[in-house]
Amino acid sequence: MCGIVGYVGERRADRVLLNGLRKLEYRGYDSAGIATLVDGEIQIRRAVGKLDNLEEALGDVGLVGGIGIGHTRWATHGRPSEQNAHPHRSGDVVLIHNGIIENYVELREELAGDGYEIISETDTEVISHLIHRQLERGEPGGLFEATRAVLSLLTGSYAMVVMTSREPGVLVTAKNSTPVVLGVGDGESFIASDIPALLEYTRDVLFLEDGELARIEGGKIEVTTFDGTPVDREPRRVSWDPVTAQKGGYKHFLLKEIHEQPQAIIDTMRGRVAQDTADVVLPELDALGDRLGGIEKMCIVACGTAWHSALVGKFIMERFARMPTEVDYGSEFRYRDPLVDEKTLLIVVSQSGETADTLAALEAAQKRGAPVLAICNVVDSSIARKADAVLYTHAGPEISVASTKAFTTQLTALYLLGLHLGRRTGKIDKDLEAECIQAIVEIPRLVEQILQDTEEAIAKDSRLFSQTDDFLYLGRGINYPIALEGALKLKEISYIHAEGYPAGEMKHGPIALIDEFMPVVVLIPRDEVYGKTLSNLKEVESRGGRIIAITDGADDELRSIAESVIEIPQTSTSLMPLLLAIPLQLLAYYVAVERGTDVDQPRNLAKSVTVE
Ligand code: AGP
Repeated sequence: MCGIVGYVGERRADRVLLNGLRKLEYRGYDSAGIATLVDGEIQIRRAVGKLDNLEEALGDVGLVGGIGIGHTRWATHGRPSEQNAHPHRSGDVVLIHNGIIENYVELREELAGDGYEIISETDTEVISHLIHRQLERGEPGGLFEATRAVLSLLTGSYAMVVMTSREPGVLVTAKNSTPVVLGVGDGESFIASDIPALLEYTRDVLFLEDGELARIEGGKIEVTTFDGTPVDREPRRVSWDPVTAQKGGYKHFLLKEIHEQPQAIIDTMRGRVAQDTADVVLPELDALGDRLGGIEKMCIVACGTAWHSALVGKFIMERFARMPTEVDYGSEFRYRDPLVDEKTLLIVVSQSGETADTLAALEAAQKRGAPVLAICNVVDSSIARKADAVLYTHAGPEISVASTKAFTTQLTALYLLGLHLGRRTGKIDKDLEAECIQAIVEIPRLVEQILQDTEEAIAKDSRLFSQTDDFLYLGRGINYPIALEGALKLKEISYIHAEGYPAGEMKHGPIALIDEFMPVVVLIPRDEVYGKTLSNLKEVESRGGRIIAITDGADDELRSIAESVIEIPQTSTSLMPLLLAIPLQLLAYYVAVERGTDVDQPRNLAKSVTVE
């Protein structure tokens, strides 16, 4: 997720662009850059790191000109570096992009054949060359039509803005799957990824929809669909204050990121699930070379929420790849003289890629000759750099300390890995593989449905339970780790003591805790252990326990004993963790809001624990 801005009008473009990028820095901060156009000359400044570095590179003089584009990067392809920073240039064309071009490798090869020299590691650069090449063909319609022609060559997601010295005063922008909002001013226009970048200048905004592009010249905005059909859309007025706008209108980043999960899961699967062959393609694993072929067991190591995804990963790897899989905490692994060697694939899971304990585990495994695969959300982070191969999640920056979209994208990456290894080893059950490949592409839609269908009921439940001191979360099998995750979410943002337990374990101790003051949250999908879990709940109910049940198919018996039943859609039982996690995130969020805690920055916690 990157931040893009564009401006054309009478102001100093570099000032408008820098202000806009500052309001979008939460979307990415690996590197930044701007380009302006004056007297037929394109000027570019780029800098690695935060925007302060770009501001320093601009100096007091800056870049003059009343038209320009700017970008703050969250790396997806290519490490953070000046060479990979946007804007990217091809001759007299300069471009910025937010998204993922899935077919950029073959486009690079095609362009090389046409004599274009590719100088960055990014997918974006190919778009600037394609548009330059199209303009060189001299067809009518200039930059607008050249951009339209190029869009048909691209596969993937993009919000792009392009400028050429051949048409001073004109910007062209196009949208597919990642956001573009246009700001309407008096004789001036603005382009941005998100509203916060515009509010200082205008509150009249116009969102592009997927499959639309726009030509902007001064205060004139012309919008068409990719096939050229004119679009007539009236701007709307935005009333948000700037801080609310950064949260997309949500009260907290945490709620915004909970709602970003459908898109984050789509972006993590993008280009990796071949629907036609029902196969999962993970070229990232090629970096392991032939070491993968000698693997006899796996070990997944992580901390906190990532450790919960690792626990689900154990079920996934043993069910799909039929390979013994251990799980350990990052903080414990290196102290147990772990039995790992060149026949063990060590998988480390980390959103930040900077968790000291997880990094130490990676190093301990490499010392023992084990190949290491990282599942990480931050390109070029310490763990990503040290691992032998990296499978990136594409959740975008996760601002709230409590991990939500990072968690569900970690699960998504683990499912893709399990399916890929199961196919590669030939050990996956063919029916299970077909079921899961078909089901996983539906997950984003089902997550969206859960968010729409359950949020109000969960917010209401939170008011009933927010003043209790203890919670018990129960789950079985592949869903037991989700009970642990739900308990952690509640603990870390509402400060209520909560424990996750295997439902079958309750009678071996925790049942002593059950009374009318102990809400019990139970994950009870209609799977093979539904009946057994229902029996556990009867034990809870008979002792006065208050039950919140999350299920994909409640029967009368469950409804008769549960105080609240949250219904979610059905999916493959193997993929249920991806759906069950969502109501638990919402419950933790709304209980915390009821209790008035600092939801995005809970006490005592840090987003990334870089100390051991
Ligand atoms: C979870 O909500 C917390 N933010 C914390 O447990 C986190 O998952 C853990 O510190 C691991 O962080 P990482 O994924 O960046 O390695």
